[in-house]
Amino acid sequence: MCGIVGILGTAPVAERLIEALKRLEYRGYDSAGLATLEGDRLERRRVGGRLKDLERRLRDAPLFGYTGIGHTRWATHGKPTEANAHPHATDHVAVAHNGIIENFGELRGELEQQGARFTSETDTEVVAHLVGSCLAKGYSPQDAVRVSLSKLRGTAALALVFKGHNNLMIGAAKGAPLAIGAGAGEMYLGSDAVALAPFTDNITYLEDGDWAVLTREKTVIYDAKGTVVYRNAIKSVASFRVDKSNYRHFMAKEVHEQPEAVGRTLAPCVDTAAACVILPKMPFDFSDVSHISIIGCGSSSYAGYIAKYWLERLARMPVEIDVASEFRYRQPPLRKGDVAIFVSQSGETADTLAALRYAKSQGLHTVSIVNVPTSTIARESETALHTLAGPEISVASTKSFGCQLMILAVLAIGAGKARRKLSESDETALVHELLQIPRLIAAALAVEPRIEELAREIVHSRNVLYLGRGASYPVALEGALKLKEIAYIPAEAYAAGELKHGPIALIDESVPVVIIAPYDRNFEKTISNMHEVAARAGKIILITDAKGAAEANLKSLATIVMPEMDGAFTPMVYDVPLQLLAYHVAVVKGTDLDRPRNLAKSVTVE
Ligand code: F6R
Repeated sequence: MCGIVGILGTAPVAERLIEALKRLEYRGYDSAGLATLEGDRLERRRVGGRLKDLERRLRDAPLFGYTGIGHTRWATHGKPTEANAHPHATDHVAVAHNGIIENFGELRGELEQQGARFTSETDTEVVAHLVGSCLAKGYSPQDAVRVSLSKLRGTAALALVFKGHNNLMIGAAKGAPLAIGAGAGEMYLGSDAVALAPFTDNITYLEDGDWAVLTREKTVIYDAKGTVVYRNAIKSVASFRVDKSNYRHFMAKEVHEQPEAVGRTLAPCVDTAAACVILPKMPFDFSDVSHISIIGCGSSSYAGYIAKYWLERLARMPVEIDVASEFRYRQPPLRKGDVAIFVSQSGETADTLAALRYAKSQGLHTVSIVNVPTSTIARESETALHTLAGPEISVASTKSFGCQLMILAVLAIGAGKARRKLSESDETALVHELLQIPRLIAAALAVEPRIEELAREIVHSRNVLYLGRGASYPVALEGALKLKEIAYIPAEAYAAGELKHGPIALIDESVPVVIIAPYDRNFEKTISNMHEVAARAGKIILITDAKGAAEANLKSLATIVMPEMDGAFTPMVYDVPLQLLAYHVAVVKGTDLDRPRNLAKSVTVE
């Protein structure tokens, strides 16, 4: 969601700004723009649309400046038009922004009374006018930014350049992340280190409230109080090639990378010889913890929901699961010393970050499960556990979800052991189950040809229901989310036992009902629900194993057979056909499935 880059270069920067913005495309955007300083002119090129449209514009009207900023915008205030695209500017300053200025209406009113003329509907334009009005009063660029920042409410990662100041760029990170890169005689700003990877691996992350004054020679960082502060530089390993290998879409590649990604994530968490889990030292003991809260958004919250079943069963631990946007505002009473787990692929989701800060303020121990190790959530949590999914480019989470589940499974075993709810032999058996998961996911991927056929059969459905019991219920939620977000088909998931309390009214011969039913202790109950669906002529898509398929003994539209496996960790395997189903339905529909409409990979605003 919104990407920012900036370069104080030793050669024209437009082409490299585009290159860096391309590396942020995965975050999602719908308009883009650049601004560079050319002698005593401030020039902008902006488009409502994609970076390729911006490149076309630049071929017709090139930019030659050595200092510049660029932006990909995910529309919040105002449509994705050229007028609303960033950078926004006055005669003297241009600004690129990620976040939401909450008091922009009030500020805009004041600025308009002072004579400012606004040309967009965005909240960001107030920043340009605020800074511009300070410059007009004779403030230096640094003072103008300092004063303006103090007036902004909300979230703002900012990059600013100033007409007539060719060796100056200012960045700020107020509630949204910003990284500074240092190169040979050049300086850079970026929403993350990935954007800057082609230019430098020397990265400094601003802390919340920091702002920084960059020249080609040095960077001075100030904290929110205006005190000069030192922030450590790190050597980033964010460099990666963004390609689809031989796959048609990033999503297909990422779904198929799962056996390897999940295995890679598991490897540092188990001692295979001793068949036990290895957890990093944490500042609490699970046996002293009375309650765990697990918080995330979207798929990450569903990973947490699955873990609730595991933690309750394996560790007999009370667990509450919440979506971050509710948790942060509900402000539930929490007990000091308990644990909150935050699940996030990007590590930048605004609501999850705010929830983390709330939990910290209440004296909870905070554990994050993140895929981007340098992310704000990883940095701000007490213990960060890393999924090793590798970069996930497609907006829909797939391999990162599988890897989150793997870490959560290890945590559940670790907690069960610490609380003496699992014996040594229980642990050994569970670890052996986990070690089988990469192979089982690979076996689950083999059902793809059947799923491809099935996708053609259900592509015109008006809606699809997903049912599951126990840990298969959140798997159903996740499957329905995937279908909605990339194939744009309304899909709802229910705990199978809820069917007769309402959703059964939806079922007729036109409605596909995906039933997730591994042959476990819930199987019989789920199959009773399947009979209820069959009695109303619903089109059953049963996902089960060979034993389940044999026992179900009912006509289905399709029975997708998963490999045989022991009970506890079926969600990691049973989610795979649901990912494939959503993918192939989207392919048949021809949606832009790696970048579904209206969605962003990294949701850095609430
Ligand atoms: C769904 C999806 C989203 C994310 C959610 C949280 O496929 O990708 O629902 O799971 O936006 O994002 P992270 O995990 O980055 O906090």
